[in-house]
Amino acid sequence: MNGASPAAASPSIGAPSIGAPVRVELNGRQVEIRSAPATRLSDCLRDELGLTGTKVGCHAGDCGACTVLLDGEQVCACLVPVGRCDGRAVTTIEAVAAAPPGTPAEALRRAFIEHGAAQCGICTPGMLMAATALLTRVGSPTRAEVETAIGGVLCRCTGYQKIIDAVLAAGVPAANAEAAVPAAGAAVGARMVRADDTT
Ligand code: FES
Ligand code: FES
Repeated sequence: MNGASPAAASPSIGAPSIGAPVRVELNGRQVEIRSAPATRLSDCLRDELGLTGTKVGCHAGDCGACTVLLDGEQVCACLVPVGRCDGRAVTTIEAVAAAPPGTPAEALRRAFIEHGAAQCGICTPGMLMAATALLTRVGSPTRAEVETAIGGVLCRCTGYQKIIDAVLAAGVPAANAEAAVPAAGAAVGARMVRADDTT
């Protein structure tokens, strides 16, 4: 998973403390961030922007609970200073939660429910974001690819099998994968071709 090297628990991490406001495309909307550029993205999302769907487990890059997408790539938000997000696209679990029926993100949510892949739910936002990044990149992943993609997100409850089964179930059937994979960073809200589509 991408991100800066782990840091001890502290209010901020290595980035300049002064400068121009940070502008981010957050879940498809332009926002201006007031937090200091060295603030952890995870803290900014939760404390300044009120997006508490992103969880914080360790503040050290170990648990993956804080996983979000930065320009479509999964990152530990606790390791990313806000200043490094200027001019970039950040996608959080709130975008997955808001995705309408018929989209890949909605299929992923439904698959998690149908497979019992969420129990206590602490890891679930990070799992969903890691899976979203994978399904955007690889429409029909193998089990090994799913295991690798979610490998940076720790789950204490499910034993991982149900989560892996859910991500596989949400994948695009191989025959349709090429046509159905949206551009990087555009998976949330895009339409996924279903196995029974004939047009
Ligand atoms: S809170 Fe970021 S990896 Fe644990
Ligand atoms: S569902 Fe509890 S940590 Fe994953």
